[in-house]
Amino acid sequence: MCGIFGVINDKSNQASQTVLNGLKKLEYRGYDSWGIALKTEGSDEILIDKHIGKIGNAETALPSGVIAIGHTRWATHGGVTDANAHPHLDCSKRIAVIHNGIVENYQELESELRQKKHIFVSETDTEIIAHLIEEETKTQSLFQATLNAFKKLVGSNAIVVLDGKTGEVVVCRNGSPLVLGVTNDSTYIASDATALLDKTNRVYFMDDNEAVYIKKSYIELFSLNTEMGKKIQFKKIDWKAEAAEKGGFAHFALKEISEQTRTIPQVLIKKTKELEQVAQLIKNGYKPVLLACGSASYCGFAAQYIFADLGIEAINYGAYEYSPFAGLVNDKTLIFAISQSGETADTLLAVKEAKKKGAKIVSVINALGSSLERLSDYLLPVEAGPEIAVVSTKGFTAQLATFFALYSVIKKSDPQRFIHTFTEWIQNKNLHEIILNCAKGLLKSEHVYLIGKHINYPAVLEFALKLKETSYMHAEAFASGELKHGVLTLIQPETPCIVLTAKDSVLKEVVSSAIELKSRGGYIIGVGPTNNKAFDYFIETPDSGPLYSIFYNVVVGQLLGYYLGIGRGADPDKPRNLAKSVTVK
Ligand code: BG6
Repeated sequence: MCGIFGVINDKSNQASQTVLNGLKKLEYRGYDSWGIALKTEGSDEILIDKHIGKIGNAETALPSGVIAIGHTRWATHGGVTDANAHPHLDCSKRIAVIHNGIVENYQELESELRQKKHIFVSETDTEIIAHLIEEETKTQSLFQATLNAFKKLVGSNAIVVLDGKTGEVVVCRNGSPLVLGVTNDSTYIASDATALLDKTNRVYFMDDNEAVYIKKSYIELFSLNTEMGKKIQFKKIDWKAEAAEKGGFAHFALKEISEQTRTIPQVLIKKTKELEQVAQLIKNGYKPVLLACGSASYCGFAAQYIFADLGIEAINYGAYEYSPFAGLVNDKTLIFAISQSGETADTLLAVKEAKKKGAKIVSVINALGSSLERLSDYLLPVEAGPEIAVVSTKGFTAQLATFFALYSVIKKSDPQRFIHTFTEWIQNKNLHEIILNCAKGLLKSEHVYLIGKHINYPAVLEFALKLKETSYMHAEAFASGELKHGVLTLIQPETPCIVLTAKDSVLKEVVSSAIELKSRGGYIIGVGPTNNKAFDYFIETPDSGPLYSIFYNVVVGQLLGYYLGIGRGADPDKPRNLAKSVTVK
């Protein structure tokens, strides 16, 4: 996944700087390299400025101008080099292309173009597109040439094309997300709406198989299939620009962790028509099937325990492994698709498969205007606001809270006592000190093992993922019952072991597993409402009942991951090799 930003008719006449600022807001989508193409006034030339590495506080050396497009890359095809950074040009250096996605048939397209004497300067699939358009412009207008070229691409792709001669811009989307934003004078293009918020709140979320032609202030929307014009309707979004800023926090990750004092309660107390309708479907015997990737899939796994507590059997699948099971879907299947971005390719593919087989789709999403939202029969928005840090924190707990809200619609329960205790606990300065101290003790460890039982098994999986994502530590999570079936071999003197507990019917069992780890020399970090002499380090959490324990325990994991990441010199907002959501298979 990559970040795309563009501006046409920039009144500041500093289009390349405007694009650079936009890319800085999209850097969580990929930070291997970045680049900008500027259409210069009074000449057909396109000027390019591209670099490997993060943008950070970089400035662009490009001169003034009113049209520029830019890209921040998450490398999939071709190493992290200046040549592979976007934008890419055609042989005549007149056409510049930026791209998000994967051209699955790029090798055969490349060999055809090589036979037509096109010269390639990069190893990317994207450069193919520039030469394909160049080939088509021999007989077609830029707009038609771009459509013809785009239709030859296999895979989920989004492109923005700039013509250095005419200043025309053509945008095509099929799979990867793109949003347009407008002010009275200028038009902006971005991979997601958060990058537009300081410019405008009037946006259009492009749909699959759509193209847009832009020249100066003229904009026209087309269907890629019929090539006929379509009405473009810009809508107002209510996200504020500050929401996409750090707001005085050192990192987005810490800001978003602290925002959970608001994001979790607001979902828990929500009573919406959609929630009632979904609850009714479940009461009418619809079978819940949970689909997601990454953190969201651990939310799905936890939801399996929440449904079980209601006496309802639900099944959770990692969406990337769902295909062999899609045949089990029927018209009484209720798919819960969980996704912070609503753009994760594997989740979209799994949902499309289930939908084809007659399943109803409920989506639990944070981002606005996503592809998943458009595939859904019922939308349960978690409204946690923009989540910028690549590690999902408030996004995860707001998704989780959605299933607790559904729980309290099906079986009357009041979350107020938990809300009060949780908001007090998470704002307690002591908590940060205790966890920071724990992190200091683990800084040099390369391996840590984690155990939990019942709802704290998905909690321990999410906890371990936070440690991996933010501190690059090898963190492996197990159901505590697995210990004696192999895992125990991994434990040596001083091996750090994290034990997640709750005041529940299995506390004794989990503590005895902790004692087994200790008897092999493990250094035991206990997390939960009840301390125990088996714990070498204890992080206390309140007791709000077994199911709610997952919120406390996961937040401890978020904070421990954050402080460990800082301590080990990692960037908690932009961990190496990752991206905020993966829009390619
Ligand atoms: C990964 C993110 O790319 O995708 C994770 O780094 C996230 O944080 C996962 O959990 C799934 O993304 P989404 O948007 O579908 O919840």
